[in-house]
Amino acid sequence: MARKNTTARVVKRRSNMMWGGRYKIGPAEIMERINASIGFDRRLYAQDIAGSLAHCDMLVAQGILTAKDGRAIRRGLLKVRDEIESGRFKFSTKLEDIHMNVEARLAELIGPVAGRLHTARSRNDQVALDVRLWVRDTIDRLEPMLRDLQAALIDRAEEYAGTIMPGFTHLQTAQPITFGHHLLAYVEMVGRDRGRLADCRVRLNESPLGAAALAGSPHPIDPRKTAKALGFDRPMANSLDAVSDRDYVVEFIAAASLSAVHLSRLAEEIVIWCSAPFRFIALSDAFTTGSSIMPQKRNPDAAELTRAKTGRIMGAFVALCTVLKGLPLTYQKDMQEDKEPLFDAADSWELGIAAMTGMVRDLKANPVRMRAVAAADYSVATDLADWLVREVGLPFRQAHHVTGTLVAKAAEKGIDLDALSLAEMRAVEPRIDRGVYRVITVEASVKARKGLGGTAPANVARAVKEARRRFLGRSR
Ligand code: ARG
Repeated sequence: MARKNTTARVVKRRSNMMWGGRYKIGPAEIMERINASIGFDRRLYAQDIAGSLAHCDMLVAQGILTAKDGRAIRRGLLKVRDEIESGRFKFSTKLEDIHMNVEARLAELIGPVAGRLHTARSRNDQVALDVRLWVRDTIDRLEPMLRDLQAALIDRAEEYAGTIMPGFTHLQTAQPITFGHHLLAYVEMVGRDRGRLADCRVRLNESPLGAAALAGSPHPIDPRKTAKALGFDRPMANSLDAVSDRDYVVEFIAAASLSAVHLSRLAEEIVIWCSAPFRFIALSDAFTTGSSIMPQKRNPDAAELTRAKTGRIMGAFVALCTVLKGLPLTYQKDMQEDKEPLFDAADSWELGIAAMTGMVRDLKANPVRMRAVAAADYSVATDLADWLVREVGLPFRQAHHVTGTLVAKAAEKGIDLDALSLAEMRAVEPRIDRGVYRVITVEASVKARKGLGGTAPANVARAVKEARRRFLGRSR
């Protein structure tokens, strides 16, 4: 949109029909522009109309509105919804926000009786309601998507339950693990992310309707009725709190941020794993892009973008907390700035979850390569030390020292630990016998870690079943 320099120009037209009683002229153009939220809060139309329908029914039930007026308003609201959904609705910046756009159109459709809908209501409890409903709807859409991500991870964990890969600490080869075990670590993280969303939903599920502008309403309303009709557990207990807090938005974005951090770590691993020096996995054409100059390239852009979107989501958290932190009670117009961060965080998160689910289903592991890297760099040294503790009775510190000496010896010769002869080993610790060769393979190493939570293939197979039961509510 072209922007003329009209900072101080007062637009000559009638004052606002919703609140302009004491106004003689309309706002400056810049006033209109900074004030309007319709560009983004039109996304709340379904929640806004659902809230108005419930409010209208309650007004009728309480005898505040006649049944006839109630019917006209209801019919009009459904028509407005229909117009919006079919793309015929004309949104107007002059009408500021979604609430006034809907109400103005309602008046055009059914006449002055439309003005009765706003009895015992303010845009302050209205917007608090709409955003609450929007966050709740979004939770109800995203929570099953996180579940799908878990399902994808669990399926792949089952497939790769016995696939050996190097486990890293400090991104240095540490000990052999199984790929299935690694994938199941993310299933646990996503499980906690789902838990945080569920907690957020429980806390937000109270209705702010009835608070009106801030102090409550003198009309004989029944906030329990609207709360029940809209699926809330109860009305909010304090009208000032109802219109002034956005903690449910913050909580949602906090849950999103933490989940995005988890998605980002998996995305980062995917980037690393499919790089040429690693070659642990490959993504198909469906989840990679080529380079316009280097014909050989396959870039994991979806993983990179999921990793990057984490920054936007965390940014939204900081933005919203910053908006709220200095606000006196109750409603302040600053709070209109909650929506763009909320929508952007939710959209980015949703894309990230879907992209990661797609990549987990798409990826193909390279077990030969994974095993080779797992077996290199003396990854079974700890197994040798543990054997010395168990079979020779050495204190662990001493076993560690002996093993270190053997690793140095092997490294000097450029060979693996199990390529050292028994004589060479005995030169360092005379009590070593042939039995040691049984424990210093990557297969023996992972198989031995069968304690609770360990990486053994048999454990992974069991953990897959458990995870299906715990997180997917099914045995297969
Ligand atoms: N568009 C406003 C918002 O998002 C709606 C509430 C306006 N309330 C008011 N008293 N001006 O916060």
